[in-house]
Formats: sequence, C-alpha cells, structure tokens
Amino acid sequence: MLTMYNLKMPRAVYSGENAMDNITEILKTANVKKVAMFTDRGIEGAGLFELPKKAVEAAGVEYYVLDDLPAEPSYQAVQKMIDQFKVDGADIIVACGGGSVMDAAKLASVLVTDAYGVKQLLDTPKIAQKCVPIILIPTTAGTGAEVTPNAIVGVPEKEVKIGIVNDNMIADYVILDARMIKNLPRKIAAATGVDALCHAVECYTSNKANPLSDTFALHAADLIINNIIAACDDKEAMEAKTMMQIAAFYAGLAITASGTTAVHALSYPLGGKYHIAHGVSNAMLLVPVMHFNEPVIRERLADVYDRACKDEVKTAKTVEEKSAWVISTMEKIVAHLEIPTSLKEFNVPEDDLDWLVEAGMQQQRLLVNNMREVTPEDARAIYLSVM
Ligand SMILES: NC(=O)c1ccc[n+]([C@@H]2O[C@H](COP(=O)([O-])OP(=O)(O)OC[C@H]3O[C@@H](n4cnc5c(N)ncnc54)[C@H](O)[C@@H]3O)[C@@H](O)[C@H]2O)c1
Ligand SMILES: [Zn+2]
Repeated sequence: MLTMYNLKMPRAVYSGENAMDNITEILKTANVKKVAMFTDRGIEGAGLFELPKKAVEAAGVEYYVLDDLPAEPSYQAVQKMIDQFKVDGADIIVACGGGSVMDAAKLASVLVTDAYGVKQLLDTPKIAQKCVPIILIPTTAGTGAEVTPNAIVGVPEKEVKIGIVNDNMIADYVILDARMIKNLPRKIAAATGVDALCHAVECYTSNKANPLSDTFALHAADLIINNIIAACDDKEAMEAKTMMQIAAFYAGLAITASGTTAVHALSYPLGGKYHIAHGVSNAMLLVPVMHFNEPVIRERLADVYDRACKDEVKTAKTVEEKSAWVISTMEKIVAHLEIPTSLKEFNVPEDDLDWLVEAGMQQQRLLVNNMREVTPEDARAIYLSVM
C-alpha cells in the first residue's frame, strides 16, 4: 500500500434530477461566448444529444458540434477531431458520450497548440498543459472517464491501446444526469458496468490502494454488485441505473487515487488488435485474474464480501469463503449479462498467444500495481484460460 496519497477531483460535480440544467448557469457565470460540443453519432441517434444542446442554447451562446468519432478511436481519429476543433476554437468544451467521446474531449482540452499532438503525448504525456476547460456528461456507467486523468487511444501500428495520463485532463465540471443512461442498450450497459466493477475491485486490490481510494472503490463495488443486474435487465429500474452512474463515478475516483491492475493491463492488447470492446475484454479477464491474484488479495476480497453481501445471505465464515463468494458473484454477473468469456467468439487464433503475452507484458504501467507479480508464464496461462 502507498504511504503517501492524494485525490484529485473535478471542480464541481452535478448529479441528480435535471442535473443537465446546471450547464446553462456554468456557461453564463464563466461568461462563455463560444462552445464546442463533442459527441458521436450513436449518441445523436439515440436522441441523447438534445438535452445538453438545449442547456447550451438556453445560455444564449454560440456553439457548434463535432461528432465524427468512432467508438474506441485511434489516436489519429482523435487528432482529426482536435484539428477541426483548433480551426473553429471555443472558450469551453461540452462533451456528451461514453469514454470514447470524453477521452477525445479531454485530449482536446490540452491540445490547442501546434507544439505537440496526441502522438507526442503517447510517449511524453506530462508535457500537456490545460488550454480549455471541459464539462463532461457520461452516457455510459461506465468508464469513469468523467473523473479520471486518463485518455485511452488505439495505436493501430502497434496494435495496442495506450493510456495517456495527465492531471491537466481532469474535467472541470461533471454532469451525472440519469436521463443519459435510461435507455442504454443492455449490451452496452452490461459491458460498461462490468468495466466499472473491474475499476472498483482492481483499485481495491492494487499496490497503490490507500485509504482515500479504498473509500470509493469499496462503495463502488458494493453498489455495482447489488445494482448491475437490475440496471441492465429492467428498463424501468431508474434507482438501480442511478446507482450505477454514481458507482462508475466513484470507481473512476478510485482510479485517480489508486490504479487498475492486471485485468486492465492484459485487456489492452485485446482491444488494440482485435477491437474487442473495452468492457468486454475486461469482463473476460476479470475472473481468471482474480483467481490468479486470490492468494495475495483474499483479505481485501473478504472486505468486499463484508460490504456487498446482504445480511440475509451472509453465510461465509472464513476469509477464503468470503473471497470465493466475491469471485463467484463476479462470475455469475458476467454470465447472467451474457458477456462473451472466450476469445473464440472473436476468432482469435491460438497462434497469436506469443504476441498477446509480449504485448500484455508491455503494460508495466498497470502490471506494477498488481499485488501478485505477473510473469510472462503467468500471462500466458491467463490468456490460455480464455482461448
Ligand atoms: N479515460 C478513462 O479513464 C477510461 C477508463 C476506461 C475506459 N476508457 C475508454 O473508453 C472507451 C470506451 O468507452 P465506453 O465503454 O463508455 O463506450 P463508448 O464511448 O466507446 O461507446 C460505445 C458505443 O455506445 C454508444 N452509446 C454510448 N452511450 C449510449 C447511450 N446512453 N445510449 C445508446 N448508445 C450509447 C456510443 O455511441 C458508441 O457507439 C474505450 O476507448 C476505453 O479504452 C477510458
Ligand atoms: Zn476500464
């Protein structure tokens, strides 16, 4: 565990009923003249863009929309969006979308300069300086990107995804409006919800875990374990969906103060080479990595049990029983939500195993957080278990 720790947060977070309305006031108070709105066509197609658009229009300011962004974009696709943004300019960015849109907006907020672009930040992320403030509105629950200092992009020439981390990318304002996730398609709600579960459990069992991150990680794990099924299965379960939105935010805060571990590390090559959605590749690796880590994290998993298992079904007595319950509950959640658990479904050939091990082992930024050391042989066994 770390002995020194800190928690960096957005300037203001607005949550609850009609949270979106706060945008109007933020723009007026900051005397904003021109807004760049970032989104993608999926959000527009789902009719979700109307609410933030109305809130911006109510402030009586000039605005334009940038929406040409694929899901899980490459750094080149993000740079293209930013180049357009640099031509048009703005006093503030309002971004409405999942992790893909929010990460693009976060990068744009530090890249109103010709001195460097996204490509340079892949190698030297620390050079980025904040240029424009950002308001982030998540539509998935979720990556927690609305609160982390990270932006993740694909690097096609290396067939991997890379996380760019810089505190200057932390949002200025966050809007958690449950209307944004009300009609989230089940498949997306499931994968992004399990991503948030991974953030919570990985951060709680990370070498970087500390009292600040633990508070948010444990609470997030509890909320997700007890709400994810209802939030995904029941269209009307607004209470469960709201809890998922808050939990994803808490799990993002936990990332900011702690860090994810081998699940996310080994997942990056699966997104980079085979374009498996981030939440899906994490869901696939969650249980195998937890089994691998169990001997050294069982006390921590027992804390999750104490917090998340409801009194009426609490029968575990030993630490081993408690940690087994947590892992099997996560397994049941992934199975119930019908998230693929085998790379066969993505036509990944066994011949790629060597490449996967090599690419996975390069993710040392996160592997160093794993409480049990991961050797190349361990990574091979974990990948093999999902082949
Ligand atoms: N910055 C971080 O801290 C962080 C953390 C984890 C993941 N990520 C990154 O975030 C990206 C994934 O983000 P994501 O999982 O939120 O999905 P996403 O942003 O890629 O969106 C996936 C698809 O869902 C659609 N969609 C999103 N919300 C919707 C809604 N409410 N209704 C209907 N359709 C909707 C989008 O249009 C898109 O087509 C990946 O690139 C991942 O690496 C970032
Ligand atoms: Zn994630």
